[in-house]
Amino acid sequence: MAAFPGRAARVLRHDGRVVAASARWLFTSREHHNYTYDLTPINLDHLAWFVATVCAAPIAVVRDHLAEIAADSALRDHIRTATAAAARRGLAEREVHYGRRVGWYAIVRALKPAHVVETGVDKGLGTAVLAAALLRNTEEGRAGRITAIDINPEAGYLVRGGAWSSVVDLVYSDSVAALAALDRPVDLFLHDSDHSVAHERTEFTTVESKLSASALLLTDNATKTSVLSEYAEKTGRHYLAFSERPLRHWYPGDGIGAAWR
Ligand SMILES: C[S@@+](CC[C@H](N)C(=O)[O-])C[C@H]1O[C@@H](n2cnc3c(N)ncnc32)[C@H](O)[C@@H]1O
Repeated sequence: MAAFPGRAARVLRHDGRVVAASARWLFTSREHHNYTYDLTPINLDHLAWFVATVCAAPIAVVRDHLAEIAADSALRDHIRTATAAAARRGLAEREVHYGRRVGWYAIVRALKPAHVVETGVDKGLGTAVLAAALLRNTEEGRAGRITAIDINPEAGYLVRGGAWSSVVDLVYSDSVAALAALDRPVDLFLHDSDHSVAHERTEFTTVESKLSASALLLTDNATKTSVLSEYAEKTGRHYLAFSERPLRHWYPGDGIGAAWR
């Protein structure tokens, strides 16, 4: 009993911070799903090491790539402008926050894939970030394109114009049907569509025959299901997961799961 007041004070301090972040978000944000935020500095450091491990890349190179996307004002300006012009602007954040997507960027910069496939596009924030990495790779003589698949024909308004759209092939279809129809090898696959266990699993089994020998598989669902971890074990791959720590946000965060040979 003597310890109770101290314990109660600590948990109330923690809960108070969550309530304050929730109230601030309710009155300042416009988002109703697929929330965006920045990551805490220590979480960004964890992400850098995650990417370095998954891609077998030097940590200094990964840090340079994370700095590169943070400093890309042309991409930020494009996203702000395209958001302001979009019919769905009332449901989008005015400021640009990439969260774990900067990890996707650093992975593409490290591996220089020729063909990236992303299932689930929504506004196109992740697609834009991946396209920015592909454009930088192209400048270095390692061209690549992204096939971005969404069932919603309104998805992808952030990548319908601007330089970034030049490396994006938007496909409006159910993801499993679109994956089955792919006609060239996939070097990097990212699941971020229907997050049900059954759909996520079907995407991985469908894309398997399309993967290049050194392909990397990513899931946006790693904090919710163990589909990719089980898939990695079944197919003799390594697996590692990163969990987000959002900065000044009530949402506990998502993550990145990665499977590779
Ligand atoms: C979480 S959002 C994608 C977020 C996006 N990757 C990003 O970086 O912001 C999920 C998207 O998956 C799409 N989706 C849901 N079921 C799908 C399916 N069966 N096939 C393709 N896309 C689907 C939704 O329309 C939605 O736009």
